Amino acid sequence: MNEEVFTEFKNEMRIRKEHVDHVLADYFSEMSIPAGQGILELKKSMEYSLVRGGKRFRPTLCMLMADAFGIDESRVLPLACAIEMIHTYSLIHDDLPSMDNDDFRRGEATNHKVYGEATALLAGDGLLTEAFSLIAQSYSEEPLVAANLVLLVAKAAGIHGMVGGQSLDLKAQNQEVNQAEIETIHKMKTGALIRVCAEGSAVACGLSGEKVELAKRFGAELGLAFQLADDLLDSTEDFIEPNSLPKILGLAETKKYLLQVSERAHYTLNELGIQKGWLHQLVDYNSNRKN
Ligand code: IPE
Ligand code: IPE
Ligand code: MG
Repeated sequence: MNEEVFTEFKNEMRIRKEHVDHVLADYFSEMSIPAGQGILELKKSMEYSLVRGGKRFRPTLCMLMADAFGIDESRVLPLACAIEMIHTYSLIHDDLPSMDNDDFRRGEATNHKVYGEATALLAGDGLLTEAFSLIAQSYSEEPLVAANLVLLVAKAAGIHGMVGGQSLDLKAQNQEVNQAEIETIHKMKTGALIRVCAEGSAVACGLSGEKVELAKRFGAELGLAFQLADDLLDSTEDFIEPNSLPKILGLAETKKYLLQVSERAHYTLNELGIQKGWLHQLVDYNSNRKN
């Protein structure tokens, strides 16, 4: 990607990130809760992690999918925000002492460091549940679309996807795992939620079954590429993450593999009829990202 196109693309990403930041902040400031100090604390805890957003990669992907299909991005915004709520919940729980025991997330104190473990646990539960409420409510005038999106997101977030992947990842920490096993963990733990951004957006935009399948394939490829880029970011010449692909393949081969998977993602986009545009730039941005 040349410098000029990259600058333009970063600007497109920033616009979407700011949009999502606003929508999520507004959602929480308008959310009514039953009176009571305890619940107010829970709401603040949910809000704390949600508004301290990272890249907003998943919602941006949803919006760029709609854009590529020639559909107004507002159509996928509730889905995009719901998936970001689920992503945020997964990070709150992932940082807990019983999981990765991290004190910092995105340069600030983790949720449990501020609100305590019990409230952080509930904040995650609250965000996960709120996500499904948002989807059901936002697409309620088209019950089939709403039901389909709820099902797809539930499968991607639950035991068949992210939660199942987190469980396999925990188990793998005390074992030697091979490349296929690591890839399965990647595809479930991280890939599934990214995959459903592409797949769900195609469903929300009313695409044919065949195109939804291609969008799903594209999302799965980008999801794997996303975690490969993450593995590379977490490793250096002096320290290689245990149970990561760089540990098995080495840094240079993992980078090569990331580029191969990214090529497949470009190819699938072409098959989907998307020959150019921001989604192609998103794939390239991911393989070179620095955070
Ligand atoms: C981090 O996800 C955890 C993984 C699934 C690899 P992101 O890299 O999307 O985190 P934020 O939201 O930008 O902080
Ligand atoms: C984050 O996983 C949580 C999920 C992918 C569900 P990691 O533990 O690999 O990512 P970081 O390093 O905490 O962001
Ligand atoms: Mg972690």
